[in-house]
Amino acid sequence: MSSAEHIFADQLRLSVTEQRQRLTDASYTEKLRWLLESDLDFQGVNGAYASHNYHAFPAKFPPQLPAFFIQQLTEPGEIVLDPLVGSGTTLVEAVISERIGVGCDIDPLALMISKVKTTPLDPFIVGKTGHWIIEEAVRLKKEKADQLWNIKSDWTTKTRNFVDYWFMPTTQLELLALSSAIDDLTDAKLKQFFRLVFSSIIITKSGGVSLARDLAHTRPHRAKVVYDTSGKLLEGMDIVKEDNPRLVHISKTLSSPIKEFEKRLKKTMVGVRQMASLKRMRTILTQTDAQSLPLATNSVDLIVTSPPYASNAIDYMRAHKFSLVWFGYSIEILSQTRRKYVGGESINQVHYETLPHYPAQIVQEIWQLDERKGAVLHRYYSEMKRTLREMHRVLKPGKAAIIVVGSSVMRGRDTETGQCLADIGESVGFTFSHIGIRYIDRDKRMMPAGNQVDLNSQIQRRMHQEFVVGFLK
Ligand SMILES: C[S@@+](CC[C@H](N)C(=O)[O-])C[C@H]1O[C@@H](n2cnc3c(N)ncnc32)[C@H](O)[C@@H]1O
Repeated sequence: MSSAEHIFADQLRLSVTEQRQRLTDASYTEKLRWLLESDLDFQGVNGAYASHNYHAFPAKFPPQLPAFFIQQLTEPGEIVLDPLVGSGTTLVEAVISERIGVGCDIDPLALMISKVKTTPLDPFIVGKTGHWIIEEAVRLKKEKADQLWNIKSDWTTKTRNFVDYWFMPTTQLELLALSSAIDDLTDAKLKQFFRLVFSSIIITKSGGVSLARDLAHTRPHRAKVVYDTSGKLLEGMDIVKEDNPRLVHISKTLSSPIKEFEKRLKKTMVGVRQMASLKRMRTILTQTDAQSLPLATNSVDLIVTSPPYASNAIDYMRAHKFSLVWFGYSIEILSQTRRKYVGGESINQVHYETLPHYPAQIVQEIWQLDERKGAVLHRYYSEMKRTLREMHRVLKPGKAAIIVVGSSVMRGRDTETGQCLADIGESVGFTFSHIGIRYIDRDKRMMPAGNQVDLNSQIQRRMHQEFVVGFLK
């Protein structure tokens, strides 16, 4: 067992040696099927090791899931691809197992998270720099408040309005102080790392230091009554406009961004130390659309990925802009990027693909109930067809692709995403292997729908499942 595998082996339920032994004689095809039939829930295991806990990310998978397939289906030095890389879970596991991780995404925050999570840093320098940033932010806030407010004059009006709506003035000042201290760093790797710590105090399930209450929801709610940690009222119902339907009668306790930054940094240091112990990390990350991968044909040894849900059930950009506006992205630019996400809701200028029988039937059924929703689902399956076609092209013959996906409900109809992607994968040339089912703990993840499960409802039960679709080229 390599040193890296040794460090993290206790995170897996079966030891790597034990798993290898069980599978030495099986052919690759049998092995893949056996893996897909295994228990893939990974509930109750610790997923917070290495850099996995640096930043929250909706619907990220447990690290044990990609680790399981990577360790069983590839050898050190081989290439593992995640074309919809998200927070880089697959890439972190690839580098821990000494494989080469390749990731693509169109979301700037996803790429930043994945990059930082796979970049080793010297813990001593990180600690020292973090200390300097906190002291500098406190100083800037006290001595240079005017200069800090001036930063906003470079932003577009829409961006300024967005920030003013979602962040209290006291919070804004501290965030500006932190971000300008981070901007002063000359080392690019350190700058990215601290931007991520900064972002992690905003992007949380409960909206972090912003006024949003629930960033996992498609439409975040703005808190109406705001207190500081000592219980002092910062903003009340009389201050906010009553006629805004997006305001709800909920309260929130806001703490100081500088203090939150300090706390998050302390937590993150555990991962920084673990990642520093890895010998070498080889990763390639690019901002590309998964429907057109910048990779050579027959070049990848394994794909492990999880696409977005159908019908934009998790709106990544709606949440991520809360953080990205502080790094110079304008609301206008971010809105343009949002249109390119697989499963988006716009049906203008969509190139619809011909679908296999079963997905076409589901699209038709939903279309009969609601034409727009039917078209949105057709868009999703068309984009997934192009993504699967690219995955098939770049994969080496005889190798596997693992797609982890949840289903959605549209107009009361289950989109049966697992089965539909299996059929679409076959239509682009893959040989379908098997669909594994895993049960997910929605309470523990940033998820779009409600947390309560009604076990008498078949559809509700399915929303607490994920489908692990396995293909061979
Ligand atoms: C379910 S998330 C992946 C989560 C990931 N498995 C993890 O553990 O963090 C899906 C990702 O697909 C990305 N995505 C959506 N449309 C895309 C596209 N057209 N090209 C590349 N990535 C895209 C989203 O930005 C999001 O990061």
